[in-house]
Amino acid sequence: MSLAPSFLAPWRSSLAHALHRNRALAYARYLQLATINKNGAPANRTLVFRGFLAGTNHLTFVTDTRSEKAEQINHNSQGEVCWYFPKTREQFRIAGRLYLIDHQHRNTDLQASRCATWQALSDAARAQFTWAPPGQPKDAELTVNGFFPDPIEPLPNFGLLLLEPLSVDHLELRGDPQNRCRYLRQNDQDSDLTWLTQMINP
Ligand SMILES: Cc1cc2nc3c(=O)[nH]c(=O)nc-3n(C[C@H](O)[C@H](O)[C@H](O)COP(=O)(O)O)c2cc1C
Repeated sequence: MSLAPSFLAPWRSSLAHALHRNRALAYARYLQLATINKNGAPANRTLVFRGFLAGTNHLTFVTDTRSEKAEQINHNSQGEVCWYFPKTREQFRIAGRLYLIDHQHRNTDLQASRCATWQALSDAARAQFTWAPPGQPKDAELTVNGFFPDPIEPLPNFGLLLLEPLSVDHLELRGDPQNRCRYLRQNDQDSDLTWLTQMINP
């Protein structure tokens, strides 16, 4: 993964515009992330978008490193988010590579981002990481252990999830005909020059 400061990818302005125009809707920051499980079957779930990793085009999310998605990402790092903005009636599908930054990750910058993301969460959001292991059979005694963890030092099972975009498909339903634009990253360097932009049929 390249962490060198990248230029804003050409699709960033459209996404920033959508986020701004839909800012009154809390759920406009919810999107669906699809991954591939170890049998090759698709799996998807809703996540909250937590902003971009500073100086990059990588989307950030938080998740429990004990979750099934964490195991899937470990096995196959491909992922795609599908994100619909109701007010402006547009969809972004952003595909790329997923990276889970866990408590053992060695990159100090990413570890610092993981801590900063933890610190920016609400108490209630942090408390979810004290819950019993996700996806395991429910044990009443184990489940009732929600407490407010240290707001500075993340719990070991707290993961910062990154999506490094390699292609973006932006569909705007407004307009007759609708507009659809595809952005493809051409090589490993993420700069504004490495993205190919093409209007395509909706
Ligand atoms: C509105 C909404 C927001 C959610 N946000 C997150 C999130 O930010 N991170 C997360 O790990 N799970 C989030 N979840 C729960 C996931 O959708 C999913 O149920 C959970 O992460 C387990 O997924 P997995 O078994 O595929 O790992 C959210 C669910 C909903 C309905």
